[in-house]
Amino acid sequence: MNGSHSQAQAVIRRRLCAWLLPLLVGVAFLGEIAFLGRIDMSKNAAAVESWTTSFYRRSINSVPDVLLGGGDDDDDEIRQCEERLEREDAVHYDRDFERDPVLVGGNSKDWNKCSVGCEFRIPASKTPDATFGIAPDPSIESILRSMESSHYYSWNNINAARGRGYQIVMTTSLSSDVPVGYFSWAEYDIMAPVPPKTEEALAAAFISNCGAHNFRLQALDMLESLDVKIDSYGSCHRNREGKVDKVETLKRYKFSLAFENSNEEDYVTEKFFQSLVTGAIPVVVGAPNIQEFSPGEGAILHIKELDNVTSVARTMKHIASNPDAFNQSLRWKYDGPSDSFKALIDMAAVHSSCRLCIHIATKIHEKEERTPKFTNRTCNCSSKKGTVYHLFVRERGRFKTESIYLRSNKLSLEALESAVHATFRSINHVPVWKDERPSSIRGGDELKVYKIYPVGLTEREALYKFKFSDDAELAIYIKDHPCAKLEADLFELAMVKHVAEAHNSPPV
Ligand SMILES: *[C@@H]1O[C@H](CO)[C@@H](O)[C@H](O)[C@H]1NC(C)=O
Ligand SMILES: *[C@@H]1O[C@H](CO)[C@@H](O)[C@H](O)[C@H]1NC(C)=O
Ligand SMILES: *[C@@H]1O[C@H](CO)[C@@H](O)[C@H](O)[C@H]1NC(C)=O
Ligand SMILES: *[C@@H]1O[C@H](CO)[C@@H](O)[C@H](O)[C@H]1NC(C)=O
Repeated sequence: MNGSHSQAQAVIRRRLCAWLLPLLVGVAFLGEIAFLGRIDMSKNAAAVESWTTSFYRRSINSVPDVLLGGGDDDDDEIRQCEERLEREDAVHYDRDFERDPVLVGGNSKDWNKCSVGCEFRIPASKTPDATFGIAPDPSIESILRSMESSHYYSWNNINAARGRGYQIVMTTSLSSDVPVGYFSWAEYDIMAPVPPKTEEALAAAFISNCGAHNFRLQALDMLESLDVKIDSYGSCHRNREGKVDKVETLKRYKFSLAFENSNEEDYVTEKFFQSLVTGAIPVVVGAPNIQEFSPGEGAILHIKELDNVTSVARTMKHIASNPDAFNQSLRWKYDGPSDSFKALIDMAAVHSSCRLCIHIATKIHEKEERTPKFTNRTCNCSSKKGTVYHLFVRERGRFKTESIYLRSNKLSLEALESAVHATFRSINHVPVWKDERPSSIRGGDELKVYKIYPVGLTEREALYKFKFSDDAELAIYIKDHPCAKLEADLFELAMVKHVAEAHNSPPV
């Protein structure tokens, strides 16, 4: 029996318990059975089980209402409402991307699977949906893709790019349409155990160019003048032989100077992520919002302005000479990184080219959703028991949405989460990051909803800004957006085992 099957069985067993408990209340139980008139009273509980199992099977497609309370006869009306909405709102899109994939003019390497049909090529005859560079034809969207800092290449600035006619901007900015970050689980073994720190110098630096659009050179000078011993492998202030393996070298140091060439929001390069891999605490000159990239509390040191160098130097010396303080800064290597860090890196579990395809396909469908065929959809259904609202939800990084239903008497964030949760569980949904994250932080098969927000937000809005602040706000949103489309981040409910155990390698 495979894992998902037995998991489904476990779900069924739990559901049965939920149904059996209220039934197994003395006379009421016998009364129900007699009333049903289907089951011979002399038969044992097994018969009850088969009845409840078949009941469960009948209601499996409207699982959420089991969780949304009720359980009385009037539920039939609600269920009929759901069935009606499922039928009437099932409007077909003209554009089916399985038959007619998103077509992007240009090349894309290193990606193979995507949750929406999509092709990258230079089309000879067919007009593409979008193309890299400025499109020759206004009906084709123009895509700008660059991983360079806009402080160096000002045309990468989102507004500047829009001004030059790009509809789709792909930069390191989490506010761009399809962010292209340096981070990913696949590229960096972020949860690698902490190697022994054998170097006498506190920090290693790999800075190839002393000139930069920020104060990194002054920061380096100041640290050195404050007696922070630095081994410098880059051409800037070099005092060590430079031809070394960067990651292997960083492993031996307690700190790594992750000094970027510009202090731009979200511009965080491999310097930072390699430091995390090697358990060398990153001392950062760079993105003003670098704390959003921190895997745990106290895991990084930020020189936000030159005034901070003195206190950062003091902290470095304290941590270096105090094993407990050092261990505390690397706590996340044992306990697992914060949820916000996981959510950020999970974004890269889906290749940026695929996220581009999803972005384009979503826009094409949204255009269709503004036509009468879609604006005519029912989207809610009223009965004596109140109104049922039809919503659509998908996992971030995937294209297809699933139906969920909420009732007017329970239009709450909690009901939304449990409906989303129950729906994904009923289809044995495997989260998009499952094969990407290091095994020690994948958790078990049980999922929880980490965040939920409307489809179409930027990553920055989705991760850090948007929040349904309370039930009332959610209710207004749902009423104002018939057949609302939402996106969710699904997380592991709990770690299967302690991360430290997974990384229980002996000290070398
Ligand atoms: C950095 O320096 C500024 C100005 O002195 C100060 O307000 C801020 O708290 C310092 N930040 C850190 C992390 O030390
Ligand atoms: C650091 O903390 C971990 C987890 O509590 C522990 O296993 C390890 O022995 C500690 N290391 C040191 C050097 O204290
Ligand atoms: C939308 O609904 C109206 C009224 O029910 C109907 O007349 C019209 O044909 C519908 N339009 C489409 C595109 O389904
Ligand atoms: C149900 O949907 C219709 C059409 O979108 C809308 O006019 C009506 O207000 C909705 N009913 C409720 C109770 O929200």
